Amino acid sequence: MKNLKNINIYEGGISSIPGKKDVVKVSSNESPFGPSISVKKAISESRLKTNKYPDGNCIELKEAISKSFKLKISNLFVGNGSDEILGIACQLFLNKGDEVIVPKHSFLMFEIYSKISGGVIKRSATKNLRVDLESLLKSITKKTKMIFIAQPNNPTGFYLSKKDLAVMIKKIPKKIMIIIDAAYAEYMTDNDYSNGLEFAQKNKNVIVTRTFSKIYGLASLRLGWCYAHSNIISSMNKVRGPFNVNQLAQDAGIQALKDKKYTSNSKKHNTLWLNIMNKELSKLPIKVYDSRANFLLIDVGKSVSKLNKYLLSKSIIIRLMDKYKLPSCVRVSIGTANENKKVLQAFKDFYK
Ligand SMILES: Cc1ncc(COP(=O)(O)O)c(C=O)c1O
Repeated sequence: MKNLKNINIYEGGISSIPGKKDVVKVSSNESPFGPSISVKKAISESRLKTNKYPDGNCIELKEAISKSFKLKISNLFVGNGSDEILGIACQLFLNKGDEVIVPKHSFLMFEIYSKISGGVIKRSATKNLRVDLESLLKSITKKTKMIFIAQPNNPTGFYLSKKDLAVMIKKIPKKIMIIIDAAYAEYMTDNDYSNGLEFAQKNKNVIVTRTFSKIYGLASLRLGWCYAHSNIISSMNKVRGPFNVNQLAQDAGIQALKDKKYTSNSKKHNTLWLNIMNKELSKLPIKVYDSRANFLLIDVGKSVSKLNKYLLSKSIIIRLMDKYKLPSCVRVSIGTANENKKVLQAFKDFYK
C-alpha cells in the first residue's frame, strides 16, 4: 500500500447543527438557490432511467459545453466534479518526487492529489495573501512538473490579472503543466479577469478546470469539466472510469447551460450581496478582504472561536480557516438575501 501518512483527509464544513432547524449554511461556497426549475425537471425525468448506464463519453453534455463556450469537443473532458479532473491530471503528469508548485493558502485538494501521485509540494509565497508571481517563478526547479493556480482562489477570493497570467504562462517552461482552476469563473465581473481558456487554447501546457457545483447549483450531483490539448484529453479518457459521470448530472448540466437567465440572475444577486456584505462587515472591527467569487475572507483576529460559537448558537455555519493556515480568518459564502441579512445582524450583534 502507498504511504499516505503525510496526507490529511479533506474535511468539508459541517452541514447541520444538532437540535437546530432553519440553519444558515454559508460555509461551502454553494449556490444559495439550488438548481433552476427547468434543471429540476430535467433531473426528475432523468431519475426514471437509472437502470441504464450513463453515456461514458458525455457526448451531449460536451456538445452543450462546446456550444456555450465556443470550444472544440476534442478539447473537452467531463469529470465527477472538477475535483476528479484535478486528481486525474496529477495521475497523468506526476511521478514520485516530481515537484508541484502551489501558492500558499490555495485550495486544499491541489496538495492532496499531488501528494497521492507522489508529488512534492513547494509553496510559493503570497503578498497580503495574493499570489506573488516572482516567488512562484523563483520556485521553479528542474524537478517542477506542475503548477496550480485557482483563478480566483478559494479561500482568498483573489485572482491574477489577465496581464499577470499572460506573463506567468510565458515565463514558465513549456514542459511544466499549468492547471488553472476556474471553479468560480461564472461569478467574476472584473475586466482584468481571465478564466484562462484563452491561454489554454494557445498553450499546450495549460489546462483549465470548471465546475457545475457553484453558480449552477449542482454540487451534490458532482459535475465538472476541463479544457486541454486534445492529446491530454485522450490520455484523460484512458485514466477515467468507464462511467465516471452519472446520467442525472449529465442531463442536469445540459439543461443548466441553456438556462442563461437563471445564471445571470444568480450572478447579479451575488455581485450585489458581495458588495453589501463587504461594505457592512467592513464597518466592524474586523478585516474584510476584497474577495471575489461567492464568498468573503474575513480576518477576525483573536475572536475566531468565540465568534464561531456565537454564530452556531444563532444557527449560522461559517467556515474556519485553520486548515488553510489562516487561523484568525473565517470564510463566509453569499447566501439568499434573508440569509445574508441574518449573517450581517449576527456579526453586528457579536461585535456590539
Ligand atoms: C477552487 C476550487 N476548485 C474546485 C472545487 C471543487 O469543485 P467540484 O465540486 O467541481 O469538485 C472547489 C470547491 O469548493 C473550489 O473551491
